Amino acid sequence: IGKALASGPLAGRRIVVTSGPTHEPIDPVRYIANRSSGAQGAALGDALAGLGAEVIFVTGPAEVPPPKGVKVVKVDTAAEMRAAVMDALPADAAVFAAAVADWRVEQPATGKIKKTPDSLPTLQFAENPDILADVSALREGRPGLVVGFAAETDDVLANATAKRARKGCDWIVANDVSPATGIMGGQENMVTLISDDGADAWPRMGKDQVARKLAAKIAEALGPVSR
Ligand code: CTP
Ligand code: CA
Repeated sequence: IGKALASGPLAGRRIVVTSGPTHEPIDPVRYIANRSSGAQGAALGDALAGLGAEVIFVTGPAEVPPPKGVKVVKVDTAAEMRAAVMDALPADAAVFAAAVADWRVEQPATGKIKKTPDSLPTLQFAENPDILADVSALREGRPGLVVGFAAETDDVLANATAKRARKGCDWIVANDVSPATGIMGGQENMVTLISDDGADAWPRMGKDQVARKLAAKIAEALGPVSR
């Protein structure tokens, strides 16, 4: 349905969502990336659009297709993702579900790196921009609600709480991705929502249920559109 026909608690709201991994090229045929199917981000885009939001869905090369009813912006690298997010602002809220590569290869080779006997390539890395931190720190045009994710394997709550403070976002959705949980790559998620109100641990549920619950919380936090 068209934007004018959108109804629901998020009708009239513009929300940016990042999703999927980023790919940082080593050469024309190789890259480094984080593991991410894009499933949680896609479910979130779907849930927000379902509540009537105009969703700008900035996605890296994910396995899961982007949801219907959102504006899809496809990117490869973290630098491209950052530019696409900044282009998509202003927005009422921004949710960062992407698994952004923390480093890029400083000088990707323009031609394919060939194997040579008795020598190994060395890669010089540069740190990628932190899109969530940059958007959280905007003095002008900061979305009213900025939500990050924190996938952790140890001391989940402490790490996620520190991450929220460090990045300056309003909420962090923390989850334990230790191999023992079987969360990574699966259909389910078990998250704790960390905000000014403290830490709210949700039971283990499907990624689409996590998405719907989070979308409802976002709608509640933004409140009715004033006009
Ligand atoms: N994020 C981002 N840009 C980056 C890195 C992360 O926007 N360059 C966002 C992610 O989308 C996520 C949040 O920041 O919402 C936390 O990502 P995470 O990788 O857990 O945090 P880092 O600060 O990169 O810390 P770590 O050393 O644990 O990877
Ligand atoms: Ca990271």
